[in-house]
Amino acid sequence: MGLSDDLLRLKDEAEAAFAGAVATGAAAVEAVRIALMGRSGRLKDLEEGFAAAPGPDKRTLGPILNQVKTALKEALAAAQAKVTAKENDAPIDVTLPEQGRHIGTIHPISQVAAEVEQVFTSMGYEVIDGPHIEQDEFNFGRLNIPADHPARDAQDTFWLSNGDLLRTHTSAVQSRTYKLVGDGKLTPPFRRVVVGKVFRYEAVDATHDNTFTQVEGFVVDKEITVAHLIGTIRTMLTAVLKRDDVEVRLRPSFFPFVEPGFEVDVRLTSVESTNRFSRWVELLGCGMIHPKVLSAGGIDPTQWQGFAFGLGMERLTMIRHAIADIRVFHGGDLRSLHQF
Ligand code: PHE
Repeated sequence: MGLSDDLLRLKDEAEAAFAGAVATGAAAVEAVRIALMGRSGRLKDLEEGFAAAPGPDKRTLGPILNQVKTALKEALAAAQAKVTAKENDAPIDVTLPEQGRHIGTIHPISQVAAEVEQVFTSMGYEVIDGPHIEQDEFNFGRLNIPADHPARDAQDTFWLSNGDLLRTHTSAVQSRTYKLVGDGKLTPPFRRVVVGKVFRYEAVDATHDNTFTQVEGFVVDKEITVAHLIGTIRTMLTAVLKRDDVEVRLRPSFFPFVEPGFEVDVRLTSVESTNRFSRWVELLGCGMIHPKVLSAGGIDPTQWQGFAFGLGMERLTMIRHAIADIRVFHGGDLRSLHQF
């Protein structure tokens, strides 16, 4: 009889289809269930055929239909159980490489900054800090750079709508320190060093960035001379660069907040001529603190003198590690940064 054959064929097909779907996964098992047992699936058609069959046929077909339905349910349940079991004990391949743990490294600038701070601490300096967002007064005015002074052109920066600015140099921290003296909160002598970010409106290339790091050191004491300044700079360079081929040269230069002022260049004497640092590279500005700057803060320049210097940490780090391009420091490429 047609219907009973169809029922038995469905049973066989269902068992094979569910068994096959197990290999593919839960979604495949579900697809088979819908095709065979769903609301418009094959079983439904056969049930409709059964309902339309004459009474005597129903008596023989009934048990077959029930048997097929049960078999389908069992095949479905078995397939679902197998899929779940397979998901639960997915094999672990112990020969796969371990998922690496990403242990960070200290940024090269931070490493060298820590060494610089260490050297200055050993020379009796206090390590201090200052704000990145600075007032015109501290960044320029108190440093003998009045509003119309052309020295401002060399240090254009990012201005906020309230007239504050992103500091162009750590010398702003000098002004803040000298004001503490005028406010009666600090008395000379003192030696201070600050390492911090500075900002300039600058086109970025291999040796310039709009955001970089400076080290500013300054001393106010009695009978301080240029010899102390040079000695201090040499001590720092020897300790930080850790090489014995560093040649240092002083050139007269102008900064409104020092008098006399100098620029210090360095060169490495034992590197190949293709190395940028085999030629003189400007490293820092320095000088004796201008009497006007001291008196702006309330320090009597006839009683006290001092020196100050400011240098680019990126450049120092580039010399130390033979790095050719300043952009690696803020580039965030871990392949570069992990080398240090
Ligand atoms: N502030 C100067 C600059 O950024 C460097 C400097 C610091 C020069 C201290 C003299 C004394 O260019």
